[in-house]
Amino acid sequence: MSLFWRIFSLNAVGLVAATALLLGPVTVSTPVLPHEALILLAGLVALLAGNAVVLRLGLTPLRRLGRAMATADLLRPGARPEVAGPSEAAELIATYNTMLDRLQAERAAGAARALHAQERERHRVARELHDEVGQTLTAVLLQLKRVADQVPGELRAEVTLSQEATRAGLDEIRRIARRLRPGVLEELGLASALRALATEFDHHGLAVRHDVPGDLPPLTPEAELVLYRVAQEGLTNTARHSSADHAGITLRKLPGAVELLVRDNGTGVGDAPEGAGISGMRERALLLGAGLSVAPGPDGGTDVRLRVPTATGGR
Ligand SMILES: Nc1ncnc2c1ncn2[C@@H]1O[C@H](COP(=O)(O)OP(=O)(O)OP(=O)(O)O)[C@@H](O)[C@H]1O
Ligand SMILES: [Mg+2]
Repeated sequence: MSLFWRIFSLNAVGLVAATALLLGPVTVSTPVLPHEALILLAGLVALLAGNAVVLRLGLTPLRRLGRAMATADLLRPGARPEVAGPSEAAELIATYNTMLDRLQAERAAGAARALHAQERERHRVARELHDEVGQTLTAVLLQLKRVADQVPGELRAEVTLSQEATRAGLDEIRRIARRLRPGVLEELGLASALRALATEFDHHGLAVRHDVPGDLPPLTPEAELVLYRVAQEGLTNTARHSSADHAGITLRKLPGAVELLVRDNGTGVGDAPEGAGISGMRERALLLGAGLSVAPGPDGGTDVRLRVPTATGGR
């Protein structure tokens, strides 16, 4: 029954009963006699109590809706408030749920566009670094080699130093380009790309163990990229913030899903606010309808867990 009819009928019953009683057996004298005042008061209390119960029951779903609205987060697809209660409230909750579904879909589509643009831009920057700066430095390196053969002995050491610095710069550019565009992902697939990523962090003094089985269910390129970027951001955060000396990447098959776990033995996230890194992970997860959690690990440290359903991420 709608809230309108509940309140209206309760009030109507009360007022009709009061009128019927006044027209019939009950009389109210002036001044009011004590037993009449008692009956009037009892009637009033019954009417107020009835109103309070009807309003409390009718407004509870709206209070639940208010709480759900206050805590709604488009990046964390959580439970929707239950469609229940008087018809006005149920209608409002259903409309709110539809609106949230639509906003979430729009947000996911917007994030997908932004992330694709970002990946395209990374490809472009990586290509330019490799093709332009990389080529120039290679030419400089060759030139230095020719110079080294011709300069007198006392200058040769300095030229060799310049050669080494140029070579280090070239290596660094190749590494940056590789990070920007996970070429191994396209060439060798996710498992090798994740293993390569793990070894890359040795340079930062972080020993990363990897447990990536070769027999993963086939995933879409998009799902592979999401898994790779989440692992990359997880390990980058470990190296930057956690003071950990050990970390691990684990990928495993679950019924109907693939789960990535990045675990470190560091200080833990604590109550640090989420930055662009973690919300980027959430946006990527949203693209695949995947679940993402960043939580304390069983022995301290941090666990980043991404569960990609094979229904959306599988090929
Ligand atoms: N593995 C971790 N160990 C400890 N603290 C962490 C870890 N990962 C994240 N944090 C904390 O959570 C915060 C938010 O991380 P997030 O990746 O969102 O942002 P960020 O790394 O500071 O910046 P960026 O946008 O460059 O990623 C960090 O500043 C850090 O305090
Ligand atoms: Mg980060």
